[in-house]
Amino acid sequence: MDHIKAAIRTIPDYPKPGIMFRDITTLLGDARAFRAAVDAMIAPHAGTKIDKVAGIEARGFILGGAIAHQLSIGFVPIRKKGKLPFDTIGQSYELEYGTDEVEMHTDAVKPGERVLLVDDLIATGGTAEAAVKLLRRAGAHVEGASFVVDLPELRGVERLRALDVPVAALVAFEGH
Ligand code: PRP
Ligand code: MG
Repeated sequence: MDHIKAAIRTIPDYPKPGIMFRDITTLLGDARAFRAAVDAMIAPHAGTKIDKVAGIEARGFILGGAIAHQLSIGFVPIRKKGKLPFDTIGQSYELEYGTDEVEMHTDAVKPGERVLLVDDLIATGGTAEAAVKLLRRAGAHVEGASFVVDLPELRGVERLRALDVPVAALVAFEGH
Protein backbone atom coordinates (compact mmCIF):
# COMPACT_ATOMS: atom_id res chain seq x y z
CA MET A 1 0.00 0.00 0.00
CA ASP A 2 2.98 2.33 0.48
CA HIS A 3 3.60 2.27 -3.26
CA ILE A 4 -0.05 3.10 -3.94
CA LYS A 5 -0.06 5.91 -1.38
CA ALA A 6 3.19 7.35 -2.73
CA ALA A 7 1.71 7.42 -6.23
CA ILE A 8 -1.09 9.79 -5.11
CA ARG A 9 -0.24 13.48 -5.45
CA THR A 10 -1.43 15.98 -2.88
CA ILE A 11 -2.24 19.50 -4.05
CA PRO A 12 -2.67 21.97 -1.17
CA ASP A 13 -5.43 24.60 -1.37
CA TYR A 14 -7.22 23.04 -4.35
CA PRO A 15 -9.99 23.67 -5.33
CA LYS A 16 -10.16 26.18 -2.48
CA PRO A 17 -7.96 27.31 0.40
CA GLY A 18 -7.61 24.76 3.19
CA ILE A 19 -8.42 21.71 1.04
CA MET A 20 -5.69 19.11 0.47
CA PHE A 21 -6.70 17.61 -2.89
CA ARG A 22 -5.72 13.94 -3.26
CA ASP A 23 -4.98 13.63 -6.97
CA ILE A 24 -5.06 10.06 -8.26
CA THR A 25 -4.10 10.96 -11.86
CA THR A 26 -0.48 10.27 -10.90
CA LEU A 27 -1.50 6.81 -9.67
CA LEU A 28 -3.42 6.15 -12.89
CA GLY A 29 -0.33 7.10 -14.90
CA ASP A 30 1.91 4.69 -12.98
CA ALA A 31 1.45 1.23 -14.53
CA ARG A 32 2.39 -0.75 -11.41
CA ALA A 33 0.46 1.44 -8.99
CA PHE A 34 -2.68 1.43 -11.17
CA ARG A 35 -2.57 -2.35 -11.55
CA ALA A 36 -1.90 -2.83 -7.83
CA ALA A 37 -4.74 -0.50 -6.87
CA VAL A 38 -7.25 -2.31 -9.11
CA ASP A 39 -6.20 -5.69 -7.71
CA ALA A 40 -6.33 -4.41 -4.12
CA MET A 41 -9.81 -2.97 -4.65
CA ILE A 42 -11.04 -6.41 -5.75
CA ALA A 43 -9.20 -8.61 -3.22
CA PRO A 44 -11.22 -7.75 -0.07
CA HIS A 45 -14.39 -8.90 -1.86
CA ALA A 46 -12.98 -12.26 -2.97
CA GLY A 47 -15.56 -14.95 -2.32
CA THR A 48 -18.43 -12.50 -2.78
CA LYS A 49 -20.51 -13.11 -5.89
CA ILE A 50 -20.73 -9.91 -7.92
CA ASP A 51 -22.76 -9.41 -11.09
CA LYS A 52 -21.90 -5.79 -11.90
CA VAL A 53 -19.62 -2.94 -10.95
CA ALA A 54 -21.17 0.50 -10.43
CA GLY A 55 -18.73 3.39 -10.76
CA ILE A 56 -19.36 6.95 -9.59
CA GLU A 57 -18.53 9.79 -11.98
CA ALA A 58 -15.86 10.70 -12.79
CA ARG A 59 -12.81 8.85 -11.49
CA GLY A 60 -14.95 5.94 -10.35
CA PHE A 61 -15.48 5.23 -14.06
CA ILE A 62 -11.78 4.64 -14.64
CA LEU A 63 -11.26 2.37 -11.64
CA GLY A 64 -14.66 0.70 -11.94
CA GLY A 65 -14.18 0.03 -15.64
CA ALA A 66 -10.84 -1.65 -14.97
CA ILE A 67 -12.36 -3.70 -12.13
CA ALA A 68 -15.34 -4.79 -14.26
CA HIS A 69 -12.98 -5.86 -17.03
CA GLN A 70 -10.81 -7.79 -14.58
CA LEU A 71 -13.90 -9.59 -13.22
CA SER A 72 -15.41 -10.05 -16.71
CA ILE A 73 -18.68 -8.47 -15.61
CA GLY A 74 -20.72 -5.46 -16.70
CA PHE A 75 -20.30 -1.83 -15.66
CA VAL A 76 -22.94 0.69 -14.57
CA PRO A 77 -22.22 4.44 -14.63
CA ILE A 78 -23.65 6.51 -11.77
CA ARG A 79 -23.55 10.07 -13.08
CA LYS A 80 -24.15 13.62 -12.01
CA LYS A 81 -27.65 14.85 -12.81
CA GLY A 82 -28.53 15.49 -16.45
CA LYS A 83 -25.79 13.46 -18.16
CA LEU A 84 -27.53 10.18 -18.96
CA PRO A 85 -29.59 9.94 -22.18
CA PHE A 86 -32.23 7.30 -21.30
CA ASP A 87 -34.83 7.16 -18.48
CA THR A 88 -33.19 7.74 -15.11
CA ILE A 89 -33.80 7.53 -11.39
CA GLY A 90 -32.08 10.11 -9.20
CA GLN A 91 -30.98 10.48 -5.61
CA SER A 92 -29.99 13.78 -4.04
CA TYR A 93 -27.44 14.21 -1.27
CA GLU A 94 -26.20 16.98 0.96
CA LEU A 95 -23.08 18.97 0.21
CA GLU A 96 -21.36 21.40 2.58
CA TYR A 97 -23.44 24.09 0.89
CA GLY A 98 -26.57 22.93 -0.93
CA THR A 99 -27.36 19.58 -2.53
CA ASP A 100 -26.27 17.53 -5.52
CA GLU A 101 -27.85 14.59 -7.30
CA VAL A 102 -26.64 11.37 -8.88
CA GLU A 103 -28.56 9.43 -11.51
CA MET A 104 -28.62 5.96 -13.01
CA HIS A 105 -30.49 4.50 -15.97
CA THR A 106 -33.69 2.73 -14.93
CA ASP A 107 -32.55 -0.47 -16.67
CA ALA A 108 -28.91 -0.37 -15.48
CA VAL A 109 -29.40 -3.14 -12.94
CA LYS A 110 -31.95 -5.93 -12.72
CA PRO A 111 -33.70 -6.63 -9.40
CA GLY A 112 -31.58 -9.05 -7.39
CA GLU A 113 -28.31 -8.24 -9.15
CA ARG A 114 -25.28 -8.08 -6.87
CA VAL A 115 -23.24 -4.91 -7.25
CA LEU A 116 -19.80 -3.69 -6.20
CA LEU A 117 -19.71 0.10 -5.82
CA VAL A 118 -16.47 1.88 -6.81
CA ASP A 119 -15.13 5.42 -6.50
CA ASP A 120 -11.72 7.02 -6.15
CA LEU A 121 -12.30 8.56 -2.73
CA ILE A 122 -14.68 8.52 0.21
CA ALA A 123 -14.90 11.62 2.38
CA THR A 124 -18.25 12.25 4.13
CA GLY A 125 -19.75 9.26 2.32
CA GLY A 126 -22.64 11.38 1.03
CA THR A 127 -22.03 10.52 -2.62
CA ALA A 128 -21.56 6.81 -1.94
CA GLU A 129 -24.63 6.69 0.31
CA ALA A 130 -26.72 8.26 -2.48
CA ALA A 131 -25.35 5.65 -4.89
CA VAL A 132 -26.25 2.82 -2.49
CA LYS A 133 -29.79 4.19 -2.12
CA LEU A 134 -30.13 4.45 -5.88
CA LEU A 135 -28.94 0.89 -6.46
CA ARG A 136 -31.22 -0.43 -3.71
CA ARG A 137 -34.23 1.43 -5.11
CA ALA A 138 -33.54 -0.34 -8.41
CA GLY A 139 -33.61 -3.67 -6.55
CA ALA A 140 -29.87 -4.37 -6.56
CA HIS A 141 -27.94 -5.83 -3.63
CA VAL A 142 -24.88 -3.74 -2.80
CA GLU A 143 -22.43 -6.48 -1.85
CA GLY A 144 -19.47 -4.18 -1.23
CA ALA A 145 -17.75 -0.90 -1.96
CA SER A 146 -14.13 -0.13 -2.80
CA PHE A 147 -12.26 3.17 -2.76
CA VAL A 148 -8.62 4.07 -3.25
CA VAL A 149 -8.60 6.88 -0.69
CA ASP A 150 -10.37 7.26 2.65
CA LEU A 151 -10.40 10.53 4.61
CA PRO A 152 -11.18 8.92 7.99
CA GLU A 153 -11.83 12.19 9.83
CA LEU A 154 -14.93 12.65 7.69
CA ARG A 155 -16.31 9.22 8.70
CA GLY A 156 -17.69 8.18 5.34
CA VAL A 157 -16.60 4.55 5.75
CA GLU A 158 -18.53 4.31 9.04
CA ARG A 159 -21.56 5.85 7.36
CA LEU A 160 -21.47 3.26 4.59
CA ARG A 161 -20.89 0.37 6.99
CA ALA A 162 -23.94 1.55 8.95
CA LEU A 163 -25.89 0.77 5.76
CA ASP A 164 -24.52 -2.81 5.94
CA VAL A 165 -22.15 -2.34 3.03
CA PRO A 166 -18.73 -4.03 3.40
CA VAL A 167 -16.21 -1.29 2.64
CA ALA A 168 -12.59 -1.48 1.48
CA ALA A 169 -10.34 1.57 1.20
CA LEU A 170 -6.69 1.19 0.25
CA VAL A 171 -5.05 4.20 1.84
CA ALA A 172 -6.06 6.80 4.43
CA PHE A 173 -4.99 10.43 4.60
CA GLU A 174 -5.36 12.44 7.79
CA GLY A 175 -6.09 16.11 7.20
CA HIS A 176 -8.29 17.17 4.36
C1 PRP B 1 -15.27 13.61 -4.92
C2 PRP B 1 -14.77 12.18 -4.93
C3 PRP B 1 -15.98 11.40 -4.51
C4 PRP B 1 -16.70 12.37 -3.57
C5 PRP B 1 -16.48 11.97 -2.14
O1 PRP B 1 -16.01 13.83 -6.10
O2 PRP B 1 -14.34 11.81 -6.24
O3 PRP B 1 -16.80 11.07 -5.62
O4 PRP B 1 -16.13 13.66 -3.80
O5 PRP B 1 -17.06 12.91 -1.26
P1 PRP B 1 -18.12 12.49 -0.17
O6 PRP B 1 -17.71 11.17 0.41
O7 PRP B 1 -18.05 13.59 0.84
O8 PRP B 1 -19.46 12.43 -0.83
P2 PRP B 1 -16.65 15.23 -6.49
O9 PRP B 1 -18.02 15.33 -5.93
O10 PRP B 1 -15.68 16.30 -6.08
O11 PRP B 1 -16.83 15.19 -8.06
P3 PRP B 1 -15.94 14.59 -9.26
O12 PRP B 1 -15.62 13.16 -8.93
O13 PRP B 1 -16.85 14.66 -10.45
O14 PRP B 1 -14.72 15.43 -9.39
MG1 MG C 1 -16.13 12.00 -7.42
